[in-house]
Amino acid sequence: MFDNSAAVFPGALVSVMSVALLLVTGRASADTQPQWRSGQETYTKICHYCHDTGVGPVLIGRGLPAAYFEIMARHPRPAMPAFRVSEIDDASLRALALFLAAAPPKGRPATSPKESD
Ligand code: HEC
Repeated sequence: MFDNSAAVFPGALVSVMSVALLLVTGRASADTQPQWRSGQETYTKICHYCHDTGVGPVLIGRGLPAAYFEIMARHPRPAMPAFRVSEIDDASLRALALFLAAAPPKGRPATSPKESD
């Protein structure tokens, strides 16, 4: 019954859930707009502090999957602080994870052209 109505009115269900989430968080902008402008900005402002300074392992250019960054940011191992939704909202975290997963190793160009010879 519930599943059927969800299939027929997926938009309505999403709207109801969004409203519920807004009521819970009380932050009207959180669901519509990422609080950080880009994944790169989030990285530079937050993760860089430890992950480019030797406190934590290098993250960039290792080909780690995006999901790993999202999981580690919310549920890190003990040496790393966890980041709550109020610090990095879900949309910003997703953008950050996609940025890190796609970022080339440092010192390489952003696109990776094939060696021509
Ligand atoms: C205060 C320092 C600090 C900050 C800020 C920080 N980290 Fe970490 N991070 C660590 C440390 C230390 C480890 C190593 C944890 C361990 O292995 O026990 C780690 C490990 C990780 C790992 C696992 C790496 C591996 O090689 O398995 C990921 C992924 C990660 N951090 C992502 C992030 C992301 C994404 C951010 C930014 C949102 C971030 N971290 C911000 C300190 C930090």
